Amino acid sequence: MKKIGVYPGTFDPITNGHLDVIKRALKIFDELIVAVAISSYKKKPIFNIQERINFIEESTKELDNLKIEAFDGLLVKFVKQKGAVAIVRGLRAVSDYEFELQLAHANRRLFKDIETVFLMPSEEYSFLSSSLVKEIAYFGGSVRTLVPPIVEKALKQKFQK
Ligand code: COA
Repeated sequence: MKKIGVYPGTFDPITNGHLDVIKRALKIFDELIVAVAISSYKKKPIFNIQERINFIEESTKELDNLKIEAFDGLLVKFVKQKGAVAIVRGLRAVSDYEFELQLAHANRRLFKDIETVFLMPSEEYSFLSSSLVKEIAYFGGSVRTLVPPIVEKALKQKFQK
């Protein structure tokens, strides 16, 4: 049976750190679904869902066994619908751990058969986050080594003064 993993996030926007996690997860699962949260309880994305999906599609063209889909509502509902065996999350530093533990336990409480698999991105991306990238771009700094080219271009356009 095909082992499907789901890598959820807001991806506002996708960074090279996320791409690193996607490539690692593809070594483990037969198929990986990048699940892009349409709306979030906590966050107000600057890119709309179609833009965020488009950035991921453009940056992962060369990868096989990868799907990119939007989801709304509870993550476990989406995971069940897809018949996935695990949720994939990136762990960059100890500071991620507490929140990720909470998320993993909550998801398990909601769906006891789901596992969460944590992958460590390469250390060169361990400081990276979508907020940091947006902040650098907002103040006119270069994000060329941090995000795929399509995201760099979109950020430039968004924050052009
Ligand atoms: N490289 C770069 N950045 C990374 C990263 C990596 N490898 N791994 C994580 N990040 C960043 C993300 O970009 C994000 O940065 P930001 O805060 O600057 O935007 C941050 O780390 C993680 O954000 P977080 O909000 O924890 O997660 P998320 O945006 O990745 O997604 C969901 C959270 C969507 C998975 C979660 O809210 C969810 O499941 N929502 C659905 C509703 C639900 O089921 N809720 C109940 C859950 S118990």
